[in-house]
Order: sequence, then structure tokens, then C-alpha cells
Amino acid sequence: MLIAISADSSVPRAKIQRLIETTGLSPCGDEQTDYRLHLSDTRLELHMHGMQPLYVDFTASKARHRRLHGGGKGQMLARAAGLRKHQKPEVIDATAGLGCDAFVLATLGANVTLLERSPIAHALLADGLRRARNEPEIATIASRMRLIHSDADDWLRVEQPRPDAIYLDPMFPTSGKTAQVKKEMQCFHALIGRDDDASRLLETARRLATRRVFVKRPRHAEALGGQTAAFSLRGKSTRFDVYLPTNPSALDSSIP
Ligand SMILES: C[S@@+](CC[C@H](N)C(=O)[O-])C[C@H]1O[C@@H](n2cnc3c(N)ncnc32)[C@H](O)[C@@H]1O
Repeated sequence: MLIAISADSSVPRAKIQRLIETTGLSPCGDEQTDYRLHLSDTRLELHMHGMQPLYVDFTASKARHRRLHGGGKGQMLARAAGLRKHQKPEVIDATAGLGCDAFVLATLGANVTLLERSPIAHALLADGLRRARNEPEIATIASRMRLIHSDADDWLRVEQPRPDAIYLDPMFPTSGKTAQVKKEMQCFHALIGRDDDASRLLETARRLATRRVFVKRPRHAEALGGQTAAFSLRGKSTRFDVYLPTNPSALDSSIP
């Protein structure tokens, strides 16, 4: 799979160089690439052959609608996170992706640390967060979101103090019957790849969270790694499985 970097002619050379260094990608040459990370004057976009560019925009109508009319702390994600009981929990979103779910949690008052290992998803998300911090309407929400480029399993094993709650939303194979509007996301997922190590991440997360781990799954999917949840919340197409910590009291988390 070929992916390269391009930029508008007005973008400073130093900015392009930073993107080359953080993603490990090369600038576009004459060759045809399947994917292109494009730096425009205003934002970073992922261009995929024959599709609309993909970028992170927390001011877009979908994010705005969910922020203003999404059901507040009654919505499944918030209930799974335990936001009703705890006013300002510290949540680790261990599979940040493009940050949609983390933005919802931060909107509802959680301080969210977002972990993302894909350099491409991380670059798109970092760019969206940078712009969000300059938007008066959502700057306070964005200030509650801290993005880290790391594998979550590695990061969680060394980080102290232990977090209240850890959220996992690993990639799930799509059926291929998904509507046309979701084609961009399917292509994006093909680029990022599968999260075959997600059940190991769930085990690590359960050892380290002090209150809970919550996992998003397709409604009818098997439980992640066959691990039985304490309880589940079911929506039309999605399910949240909520797990209790396996090591709730030990503050010294020496992981083998
Ligand atoms: C389905 S997406 C998450 C979507 C996200 N919940 C959202 O609202 O945009 C899964 C993401 O988790 C990331 N990921 C999976 N396993 C990870 C790990 N161990 N550490 C860090 N990131 C991981 C993948 O790279 C991918 O970007």
C-alpha cells in the first residue's frame, strides 16, 4: 500500500518536514499512491483514491449535533464510562482513532488521555485538536483532551497514577454491506489495519484501571477475547461491555 505526503505551495517547509518526521512518510513523487496525507493552508487531510478527503473537524455538524443534542450523560457511551457517578473522571481512550468518542467524553466533563499508535491517525487527530483549541465554542472541551502517540499497552504498563477508567474501541472487521457514506471510513480502516492484539490490551487495561474498563463492540459480536463483561449496554448497532478491574486495590501495579 503506497502512501505519501503532499502540501499546498504556501505551507512552510518546516511544517512539511515535521510531518515527514512524525509519520515516517516520504513526500509525493511522480508515482501513483493509494493514499496521500495532504497539508493544506488550513488543515491536514487524508486523500484516498476517488473519495472525499478525510480530516478531523470537531466543529462539523455531526460533532456539533451530538455535543448539543446527543443525550448528555444518558447516552450509552457516558453510562458505560460511569460519568453519572463520577463528575470529572480521568479516562484513558486507549484506541483514540479520529477522536469522536473522546470528544463526547470530554464534552461531558471527563479529562481524557487519548492514545493512538497509528502515525497517520495520530497526525490527523493532532491537527483536528490543534484547530479545536482555537475555536472559542469548543476550546475548553479540547483542553480536556491530551493526545499521546503511543501503543496503549506499552504506555499503560509504565504510566502512573493508575487511571479511573479505560476505554477500548478496537477495529472490528466490516461486513462489506456498509452504506456508501461510510466508504471513506472503510478505506481508512483498511489503511490502519486490524487490531488483532485487542484482547491482550483488555487484560492489561483491567489490571490497571481502578474503576472500570469499557469496550465498544458491534451489537451481535462476541465479547472481546471471550472475556465476560460485568454488564452490557445495547443500542441498535452497538454494544458497550463494561468490565470491572481485576486488580482494583493494588496501587502498586507491577505488571509482569
Ligand atoms: C475503531 S478506531 C477507534 C475509533 C474511535 N473510538 C473514534 O471515536 O474515532 C481504533 C483505533 O485504535 C487504534 N489502536 C488500536 N490498538 C491500539 C493500541 N494498542 N494502542 C494505541 N492505539 C491503538 C487504531 O490504530 C485505530 O486508530
